[in-house]
Amino acid sequence: MININYLKNYEELSLQAADIVAAELIKKPDLVLGLPTGSTPVGMYKNLIEQNKNGRIDFSKTHTFNLDEYYPIKRADKQSYYRFMFDNFFDFININPQNINIPDGEAPNADSECLHYEQKINHAGGIDLMVLGLGANGHIGFNEPGEFLVPFTHVASLSEDTVKANARFFNSEAEVPKTALTMGIGSIIAKSRKILLLVSGEAKTQAFKHFLYDNKVSAKNPATLLYLHGDVTVLSDIQDI
Ligand code: GLP
Repeated sequence: MININYLKNYEELSLQAADIVAAELIKKPDLVLGLPTGSTPVGMYKNLIEQNKNGRIDFSKTHTFNLDEYYPIKRADKQSYYRFMFDNFFDFININPQNINIPDGEAPNADSECLHYEQKINHAGGIDLMVLGLGANGHIGFNEPGEFLVPFTHVASLSEDTVKANARFFNSEAEVPKTALTMGIGSIIAKSRKILLLVSGEAKTQAFKHFLYDNKVSAKNPATLLYLHGDVTVLSDIQDI
């Protein structure tokens, strides 16, 4: 089932997203949490940091799995998702660093790293709550629109649209890595008990319209695969849709 909630603005969306994560964490302190990067979840992370600081939530037993990472990339690079997660979230909460999982952009063998990452998800018993962003072209993680989707964690090629969209974080478009490691749609759908999809900003209007109204589940719009999951909550701050 898909539950869609429209929020007044980005602040409300971020607050509500953080409250959903917090509620799960309070129910189950050893929660396995799937996490996205990008501009969309930054407000949610800020709210979660605040709730952790004021003692409402505790991350000491929580395990996290990030959705994706550029490949190859050094962890120390400003643009790595590894750095993003520490700069925006992990450095400010009481998580045990050993419980943090991010696909390794420095791994010597990308395919082995993907296999290993998928096994770690299995070993953790799957993901309790998977938080996702939406790409402007309908992608989820780095599962790009195409003729087919790859089920589990794999090496993905970034589409031209995604390279353009993500160039804002780099000095130039040429610097954006053209490949990445990403959970597959199967890792997300089959191994997550609950999914929270965050949709924010005008750039997502077209992708969100297709998601809502096309009435097709298609690899050409990877987000539509979420219709196959039984427990999805969507939070959107896009009003006229
Ligand atoms: C990126 C990431 C996705 C993210 C999406 C949206 O390319 N691979 O995981 O959800 O694009 O990012 P943003 O929130 O910055 O719009």
